[in-house]
Parts: sequence; C-alpha cells; structure tokens
Amino acid sequence: MSRFIDELKRTHRCGELRASDEGKVVVLFGWVASRRDHGGCVFVDLRDRTGITQIVFDRDYAQKHPQLASHASLEQVQAAHNQAEQMRSEWVIGIRGLVVSRGGNKNPKIPTGDIEVLVIESTIFNKAETPPFEVTDEIDTREEIRLEKRYVDLRRTSLQKTLLTRHRINQATRNYLSGQGCLELETPYLVKYTPGGARNFLVPARMAPGKFFALAESPQLYKQLFMVAGFDRYFQIVKCFRDEDSRLDRQPEFTQIDIELSFTNQDEIFRLIEGLVFAIFKEALGLDLHTLYPSGRFPEMPYAEAMGKYGSDKPDMRFDLPHVDLTDVVLEHGGGGVPFWVELADKYKSGALRMDIKPEIVKAIVIPASANLSRPQLEELEKGLREIKGFRGLARAKLADDGSWTQSPFAKSITNELRLAINAACGAKPGDIICLQFGKESVVHTVMARLRGDVAKRMGLIPEYGHGNKWSFLWVTNPPLFEYDEETNTFAAAHHAFTRPIDEHIPLLEQDPARVECYRYDLVLNGFEIGGGSVRLHDPEVQRRVFAVLGIKDEDAQAKFGFLLDALKSGAPPHGGIALGMDRLSMLLANAQTLRDVIPFPKSNQATDLMTGAPVAVEAAQLAELKIKSV
Ligand code: AMO
Repeated sequence: MSRFIDELKRTHRCGELRASDEGKVVVLFGWVASRRDHGGCVFVDLRDRTGITQIVFDRDYAQKHPQLASHASLEQVQAAHNQAEQMRSEWVIGIRGLVVSRGGNKNPKIPTGDIEVLVIESTIFNKAETPPFEVTDEIDTREEIRLEKRYVDLRRTSLQKTLLTRHRINQATRNYLSGQGCLELETPYLVKYTPGGARNFLVPARMAPGKFFALAESPQLYKQLFMVAGFDRYFQIVKCFRDEDSRLDRQPEFTQIDIELSFTNQDEIFRLIEGLVFAIFKEALGLDLHTLYPSGRFPEMPYAEAMGKYGSDKPDMRFDLPHVDLTDVVLEHGGGGVPFWVELADKYKSGALRMDIKPEIVKAIVIPASANLSRPQLEELEKGLREIKGFRGLARAKLADDGSWTQSPFAKSITNELRLAINAACGAKPGDIICLQFGKESVVHTVMARLRGDVAKRMGLIPEYGHGNKWSFLWVTNPPLFEYDEETNTFAAAHHAFTRPIDEHIPLLEQDPARVECYRYDLVLNGFEIGGGSVRLHDPEVQRRVFAVLGIKDEDAQAKFGFLLDALKSGAPPHGGIALGMDRLSMLLANAQTLRDVIPFPKSNQATDLMTGAPVAVEAAQLAELKIKSV
C-alpha cells in the first residue's frame, strides 16, 4: 500500500486554495509547471487543470516557519527537499503540506496567489522526459509539433479552458433538451451509402466481400425513422464523418447536436433552438443573451435577401457593408460604354443569358472615405481574393468631388449617365471607393462576400478572428429547393431530396422548379453556419413529384432510399429538425481561431492524425481478408 493515493487522499485541486485555507494541512497532486532552486529552499509551481499552487520545499523551515514544526519532523522535510532537488518540468508528484500566507510576496496574477504550501512530505509518481515545448499559453511552437504531442499541448490553460467549455455545452444541451421532452437516442455509424451530400468514408465489410458500409455523415435518415417509430422528440450529441477537404471550420470527424421533432413547424424548431442556444451561452459564458435579444428570438432573413445583400448564405451581421446589385442599372444603360459590360448587356439582349434567372451579374461594395485605405492596402485586399477560383481582378473607382471616377480602369470608357447612375445606386460620396465585380453570379458572390469580410477587418469593424464581444445571430430561411446545372441542364437537390417545399410553391414543381423555395434554414453566428435543418417532406405524392424534377425514376429512388420511402408510407408524422455544429459553436464561444483548437484530438489540415500517424498502410494479409487490392 502506498502512502500517497491509498492513504493520503487528495484534499484540493491546484487552483482551489485561498487565504481562508491558511493553517490547513492539504494533499495536492499535479504536474511540475516550473521549479526554482534557491539552495535550501526549492519553489515548485504545481499545476493541474484547475490552476497552479506555489509549493515550497524548505530545509530550514524551523526559523522561518516555526508553525510547521508541530506538523512535521526534520527528517520528513529533508527527505522531501531531497526529492525536490531532482524534480523537473512535467514530472507528476504528490505533496502533503501546510497552507501559509505569502506575506508580502503575494502574486495577484493567480487566484491562489495569496498562499503557498510548505511541504511536509512528497512523492514522485512519475518522471517525465524533457517536454517537446513549454506548457504555456505564450507559445510559438509550430502547430504540427503540438498536434504530434497533443497530450502535452492539452495541458495548456487555454486548451483546458476550451475543453471545459465543450463539457459545459454538452451538459447544458442535455439538461435543456431533456427538459423539453427530447429523448437522447443513438443511431448507427456504419450505414448504407446513399448518394448526394458530402463524400462518405467507406468501410469494407469483411463478411460481405467487395461490399462497403459508409460512415454516417449525419444521423439524418435514422432520426426521421425515430419519428416514424413514434419517438416524437429526439436529440443526440453525435459524431459525424465527412471525407471533405479540411478548412478552419471543417473537420472530417466532427460533432453535431442533432435534433428531430414530430408534429412541428419551422417556427417551433426555431424557438427550441433559440432556447437551447440561450441556455448554452448562459452555462458556458455566463452571458444572458436576453441582453442582446430581449424577445428571446433571433432575427430571420430570407435566403434570397442574404445572397442579394451580402452574397452569402451566412452573412456576418456584426457589421453592414451591403452589396449593391448593379446588374439592372448596367443593363438599362446597355453596358454604358464599358466593353465588358456592353458584352454582358448584349448576351442578355440576344437571349444567350436568361433574364429571369440572371446567371451573370454586376455588384459593388462601397468602402467609405473614412476607412482611409491607401492604394497598397487596397492592393493587399485584392491579393487575398486571388485564391478564389474564377476571380479575374477587382475593378475600383475612387469618387472625386465632382462625382467623376479616378484610379479606375473604367474611368475613360464609362458614359456619364451610367457613372452617375452607379454613384447614386451606391450612395457613394466623394472620397469613397467603389469596388466592382461582374461575371458568373456564384463567382461574384464568393468574391464580394470575401471582400466584405476583409474590408470589415481592415476597418476594424470586426477582429481578425474571434467575436470581439459581438454576437450576431441570424436565421437564413427559405432557400431554393433545387440547384440548376447549366451545363447538364438538370436540377439537383440543393440540400437533400427530403426537404418540404413551401406550400404555395408546390404547384411550381412542374412549371418552374427554379423558383421553388423550401422550409430549410441555417442558423448563422458571426458569419459562421452553426446549424442547419429543414422541415421534412412526409407526403409520398409530393415526394414523387420532387424526384421527377430531379430525374430520379421510381425504381432508382427505391434502390437508393427504399427503406426511407417505405417508412414514410407506413405512418409518418409531419416532422422536421436541425443539427448544430457543436465544434463550430465551441470555437466561437472559446474565441478560438480554428476547429483544431477546440477538438481534443483533431485531424491536421491534410486530414491526418499527426499523433498516431493515421491513416497508415496495412498488411497485405489484412487486405486479402477483405478481398481488397490496393493499386
Ligand atoms: P448540415 O450538413 O448542415 O446538416 O450540418 C449541420 C451543421 O454541422 C456543422 N458541420 C460541420 N462542422 C465541422 N466540420 C464539418 N465538416 C461540418 N459539416 C457540417 C455545421 C452545420 O451547420 N442532417 C442535417 C441536419 C438536419 O437537416 O437536421 C445536417 O447534417 O455547423
């Protein structure tokens, strides 16, 4: 039986002791954060996930701390001091000692700074190799090295706080949703591959050679089956797997707070989620969102408006800087002498481009004179846009006092009338800079949405990353049900084929599919999509018509989604749901820069695990067993 742990139980954690604990004999366990040897006296900062306590191994305590004498013998203290002389960073130790005041040497920077612990006896649980980097928040070690030694990295206070935030989000979620009558139920990870949506990870099935499971990209179909089965209200904090390229807000393996409700509509789902988000903020940040949203409700914006005003289905509403759509103005002026625009106007006039859809557009953003951006700064902004596929350069115009354009490639060619019309449409004043972008709608939107964010950062409206103490929520609602592919002249499901069209738009399914909007919604926070969902299509007849638009024949539908279609025909209640991106929410709440900072063991940018080296090659025999050949 060992003295520490078996006999001496931990009495406190390293962040807990205060002045009110003076005079107590305590037992602490933890890691050596730092050690200072002053000869007869060794100071150690002892760390665990709650904080740091200064502990003192003092051979000559008798004069300085006579009160220790009644608790310890000289031999005990000397033995402890001998151990302390060996101790190094990240060793794991235990101590028993007396809490005393630090007198005039208090450290106001840490919560335990009023006290220190005079060690009576100690133990070394484990020695540690010299750590690959210092465990501190002021760290400039490359991320690759930190991910390789993630267990050391995770000892840093910032990451420990972040994981604590995750814990709180999970607890708040369970409490709130359970209180709302939702059951926490599990769904399988090994599922049938279904086309559409994200690319799946495939898992070979040994028992069925040549066949594969997919790793679930979400519990979508199963949660709907729970509704059919009568479970009424469901939630799950669940891992999802998507074989997509990583981004700062995307990981191949991530966590959703997944929800589905029966006998519900969009507004009821919104209310439930708003309540959940309020509860999470209260629990994780201590912030009452009623101070920002007194009604308890988040604002809503139709998808078409979001795209028109901000070129994005997840606009950051912490600032405005709206886009100005100049397409109609430019077309009315026949392109106004600007060669690119004349060409564009001609394409519409000749019918080569459809006037009702406007596949090519002209948009502007006005950078106010007050932003005071220099030419090199503007060029810097443009440089950031070059990585966008299809970007061909940003046309700029600076407004002179008389309304003429300077510093613009179009200054010479543009007609007076169009220039004035654009100035008016933009509400631009002398000194303002109009940034122009034209061409394919999707490219224009991507470029201008990015520019909007970059300009806001330059203007100091938002920080480079993080919330900057501003929280802006937005529901983006009613996007189109279908996406039109010009090249193949076909429609694809914009999200998935089981989203319910808006009731009034059902007659348009055959007449004009491009105009059919649906009950789909995303929740946006500070420009990040933190959740998305829809009201489902539970009516087999409308479902059949949707499949018809998508060109999916009955037998194909049966082969692909047969089990769901059958289920929907066997007594399906009206239902709908949503999934929140738990990692994204954690990232925003923790003010972190990437998802990698809030996921305990994340994948690298190349979707690998730098700590274990996964993925790895496997033995030929393993592949043979799976009847798989690697080529
Ligand atoms: P969706 O695909 O929109 O919907 O996902 C829901 C939310 O999950 C988060 N998310 C991700 N987070 C990190 N890494 C990723 N690769 C990633 N992909 C998505 C986002 C997103 O808003 N089954 C539907 C939900 C429903 O309809 O009920 C679904 O999965 O925050």
